[in-house]
Amino acid sequence: RKGKTPEEVVKKYLQKVKSPPEEDCTICMEPLGGPSGYKGPGVGPCGHQYHFQCLVAMYNNGNKDGSLQCPTCKTIYGVKTGNQPAGKMEYHVIPHSLPGHPDCKSVRIIYNIPPGIQGPEHPNPGKPFTARGFPRHCYLPDSEKGRKVLRLLLVAWDRRLIFSVGTSSTTGESDTVIWNEVHHKTEFGSNLTGHGFPDPGHLDNVLEELRAQGITEDDAMME
Ligand code: APR
Ligand code: ZN
Repeated sequence: RKGKTPEEVVKKYLQKVKSPPEEDCTICMEPLGGPSGYKGPGVGPCGHQYHFQCLVAMYNNGNKDGSLQCPTCKTIYGVKTGNQPAGKMEYHVIPHSLPGHPDCKSVRIIYNIPPGIQGPEHPNPGKPFTARGFPRHCYLPDSEKGRKVLRLLLVAWDRRLIFSVGTSSTTGESDTVIWNEVHHKTEFGSNLTGHGFPDPGHLDNVLEELRAQGITEDDAMME
């Protein structure tokens, strides 16, 4: 919470429109101009329109970090943050090459998150969460592009976007620390899980996933 009410956050990023188009709000599926119980509509700088109260409801369903994401085009207004629990991210260079990256060394990232109690930003506040498989080791080629990905991952970590608390799709366990929407390679010399090398598209995929979280090269420059 940044101290602003949900209404204030939504207003900050919206412009009111005088005559709404004859379209439905894609959040509630009711006409933008119709007699719905929702006040509005408002339009974001991206041009997509919704009922004001629908955006407020959407914001309230998220982790209320002061940012707003257009549900249509995914444009992020403000800085998106996640609900990753407290922990540590470290990295170092290892003097070996990854399959598919024979011309450079590698970077190993080590994530460590201990189990704990869920906060108000988690699915079941007050309930414990588990943390399986930590420390989790991940690998990147120590190339120019790999280094860029690393810089952006450091930003993602600070914004609590690498992990979240929820149900693991691998184990089915709930109330546990899980990877968020940014893929990591957790195997070094093998590829038994599908999360190993070689994978020629990996770095570009990760850059795309980071972009979807609102993290681009501009962010890394500012750190
Ligand atoms: N390595 C890297 N990414 C993985 C792995 C893995 N071994 N298993 C799943 N993922 C990816 C999935 O492709 C998905 O995109 O993480 C995302 C979330 O999957 P979940 O199964 O919900 O995540 P989680 O329970 O955190 O991961 C399961 O990953 O690193 C290992 O020790 C961890 O064995 C655990 C496994
Ligand atoms: Zn939009």
